[in-house]
Amino acid sequence: MKTVKKILFICLGNICRSPAAEGAFKKIIEEKGRFSEFEVDSCGTAGYHIGELADPRTRLIAKNHGINLTHRSRQLQKKDLDYFDFLLVMDAKNYSEVAALASNPIQKQKIFFFRSFVGKGSSLEVPDPYYGTNEDFENVQKIVTESSKAFLNYLDSR
Ligand code: 4NP
Repeated sequence: MKTVKKILFICLGNICRSPAAEGAFKKIIEEKGRFSEFEVDSCGTAGYHIGELADPRTRLIAKNHGINLTHRSRQLQKKDLDYFDFLLVMDAKNYSEVAALASNPIQKQKIFFFRSFVGKGSSLEVPDPYYGTNEDFENVQKIVTESSKAFLNYLDSR
């Protein structure tokens, strides 16, 4: 039996980008009948929104894509860096916050820009839509969907 891969999506507030990423990745593995191969969660580096559902704009757009987001915001904890196999960050600020919590090279090697798996020509960052427009939220949904597919391809090609 294969070991379950533990994936943690990380942004700042855990109400926009990382819950969208969690939802998009779960939808894809569910459609492929591979849900049991993964444990998937999300969190934020900050604690501003602990206990809250995802932002209403994030939830509406996810819903329009057939995804029901029920995750409640939680803050990244030091023990997450041991527990999870992949720490997938949305931007450079997230990267440095997570890296600052890492206490050994093994933990640091688990940190990746989620969007980096898309490869050539792509920006590394998923832009923060919090102060943006509905279009910015749609753009996040599109990016996390393509990044989820690319990340799964990466895992399968290793
Ligand atoms: P997220 O977006 O990091 O994608 O969840 C944000 C959510 C909240 C805030 C900033 C970004 N905030 O400043 O409260």
